[in-house]
Order: sequence, then structure tokens, then C-alpha cells
Amino acid sequence: MNITIVGPGAIGSLWAIKLLQAGHNVSLWSRATDTTIDLSLDGQASLPFSNNNIEKLAASDLVIFTVKAWQVEEASISLLPYLDSDTILMFLHNGMGAVDKIATHINAHPVILATTTQAAFKPDRYRVSHTGLGQTQLGAFNQTGQQCTFLVDVLDNALPAVSWNPEIKTALWTKLAINCAINPLTGLEQIKNGALADQKFEGVLSSIIKELTQVMQAKGITCSFDELAASVKQVIQATAQNNSSMKQDMFYQRKTEVDFITGYLIKTALKHQIDVPVNQKLFAQVKEQENRWNQQD
Ligand code: PAF
Repeated sequence: MNITIVGPGAIGSLWAIKLLQAGHNVSLWSRATDTTIDLSLDGQASLPFSNNNIEKLAASDLVIFTVKAWQVEEASISLLPYLDSDTILMFLHNGMGAVDKIATHINAHPVILATTTQAAFKPDRYRVSHTGLGQTQLGAFNQTGQQCTFLVDVLDNALPAVSWNPEIKTALWTKLAINCAINPLTGLEQIKNGALADQKFEGVLSSIIKELTQVMQAKGITCSFDELAASVKQVIQATAQNNSSMKQDMFYQRKTEVDFITGYLIKTALKHQIDVPVNQKLFAQVKEQENRWNQQD
């Protein structure tokens, strides 16, 4: 397939290399002005990718957006004029709500939502480390997206395990719950994910998860406090040595994804008239820091 990866950060670069190695024509679209970007995975020989090539973009059968949630709108709307309506758009990022915001612009395309537990790290622009094996779930955002189940085979062949989830919203909410629990705390405290296993975080984690359970149940998602708490605990253990994306963003004083993580939870809670004070407090603390950096600029 002709595939373009928009936003080759750690996860996007990992997919780019794996899809190229599986025999696809893969190109990149990024903020960098280079026409070619060399990427190397886990110390292997570098592979050259063309970057920001409009002809390759226009010929894409599949465009995978791995930009941050807050970049989805700008990144996708600017590229749509170059794409055929049968080009499949796939979105893979933390958080929820970003694709809903652009639904009217993209609904002519088959649209796929994805979530992954693959872990990757990019120490610099050219090197990628695959730091944890995980699973990727795909599901349809719209009706034509439902005809794209064949993508499971394409992607699974390149970077297993990939599966189709007809209830992708449930998977996205579960990942949102994990991000609400881990990201603001690790960002504010500047600690690794594993540090959240300390007893001193038990109370706050339990309150975050209680609030999430209430909101998810109000949305009609089948879940229980115990199940969510177990998922959060499992991810804290499995990624104990990792620096969460929000910890890194806050360390480098970059805009975080909090609006689409805790912010999305708060918006949904408001619609259902559910109080989420603990999540609200964490949201306000992250935003306060973001605003402080903006004022410094
Ligand atoms: O955002 C992240 O860093 C990741 O989604 C997760 C699962 C919290 C692991 O670090």
C-alpha cells in the first residue's frame, strides 16, 4: 500500500519503519523541512523516507495521523485538499474528542480510530527505540470505515498484535481512563510511571478512577471500578520505567494533551451532571503551568 505517516514522533516513526520493512511504500509528513528523513530502529541501519512530498501524499491509500490530539485539526484539515475521498484516514493518539471536532470535514473518507499499548521512545530526530511490545486496536469512526477491517491484516503483518474492535469507543475510554490516572500526576510530580505504585498515591488514584467509572457508566460503557483500577495498576507496572508523555511535555514546557484527556472527561461529566472534583483539580494544575509557560514566550 502507499502509506503516509503524518507526525512521525516515536509511535509514528515506529509504524513507518515497520510498515516499510513489511514491503509498503511509506512516506512521512512532518514539520521538518527536509525532503528526506533517515530513521533507524533499535540501532539497525537507517532507512530513508521521503518527507512532505505532495505527490506521495496524494497517491496514499492510507494516511495515519500520529500527531498529538491538539494537532489533529490543523494537521488533517490542511492535507485534505490533496487526498482522494477513498483514501483511508486513521487516527492514533492519546485522548478523545479531536476527531469528533473535524467529523464534518473528514466524513467523505473511510475513517479509522486506533489505540495502542506499543511503547516507543525517540531519543533524537533520527533514532527510535521500541521500548515495549503491545497491542493495537482499530475500529470504525464512520460507516465507510467499517469496510476497512482488512487493515488488521496489513498492520498486524508489520507490527503485531493488531485487532478489530467493533466497540472502539470502549477501548478509547479505557485508554482515556489510564491516561487520566497516570499522565497529570506523573507530569505534575515529574516522576516515572512506576512511582505511582507508592502507597501515597493510592487515595488520589482511587478518587480519579471512581470519578471515571461514574462518567463512563453514564456514557453507557460497561465497566466497574475494580476493572478500571486493575487496568491502571497493570499499566503502571508494565510501564514502570517509562516517562509518560505528559511528564515529558511538562519537563520541556510543551503544550500537553490534557485538554483531550482530563479535559474531555470533565466536559463529558458536565453533560451528565457528575461532579469530578479530583480530576478538575489536576486539570487546573496542569493548565496553570501551561499558561505560565505561554506568558513567558
Ligand atoms: O501517554 C503515555 O505516556 C502513555 O499513554 C501511557 C500509557 C500513560 C504510558 O506512559
